[in-house]
Amino acid sequence: MSSDQQKQRAAEAAVEYVADGCVLGVGTGSTVNHFIAALVRRRVPIAGAVSSSEASARLLREARINVVELNSSGDLDLYIDGADEATRHLKLIKGGGAALTREKIVAAASRRFICIADQSKLVDVLGRFPLPVEVIPMARSYVARQLVKLGGQPVLREGVITDNGNQILDVHNLSILDPAATEAAINQIVGVVCNGIFARRGADLLLLGTDTGVEVLKP
Ligand code: 5RP
Repeated sequence: MSSDQQKQRAAEAAVEYVADGCVLGVGTGSTVNHFIAALVRRRVPIAGAVSSSEASARLLREARINVVELNSSGDLDLYIDGADEATRHLKLIKGGGAALTREKIVAAASRRFICIADQSKLVDVLGRFPLPVEVIPMARSYVARQLVKLGGQPVLREGVITDNGNQILDVHNLSILDPAATEAAINQIVGVVCNGIFARRGADLLLLGTDTGVEVLKP
């Protein structure tokens, strides 16, 4: 079974957790695209969705789902999103789709965060996937030098501007043995908007699509 089919499995399983009439937090990426498609196919009657990206907001509107601003929704019961890497403790790396800042905001504002992913995303230690860091453009070089001091090798994601008008540095070769500490250390660098480690607010449940079904992991 392909990783895309595994993503679809996890996405289908996530639909079961969505309550009728809720305003749902919706993330970004190919796994979430499967999730939006499944929501529509199964006609789940949600009141609306808060989206973590313009890309997902477009898809939701195309599906005639009411897209709501987080500023008017209040806290959400549930946020569904994918990940680039996940540990068994449900600490994540996200941001492969450059939506990490809005994803972190919607996750923070949600009582429950269910992560959906294919099996390849499960790792023992975070950091094989280059860590996305969103930076204010004028601070890019300064931030890059500080990231080198932390042991990483930052590479500018060419041609990408985030929904917030910023740039992304992908940091290679960071050894993230203490995800919460690394998340905090990078956030301390002036000019960093957000980094893609989701440790302080990790997921509450991980639905992992596998060849044989969906594995449900709790922290
Ligand atoms: C976007 C993200 C995505 O959740 C992450 O990149 C996983 O994407 P996909 O579902 O396409 O594998 O963090 O910023």
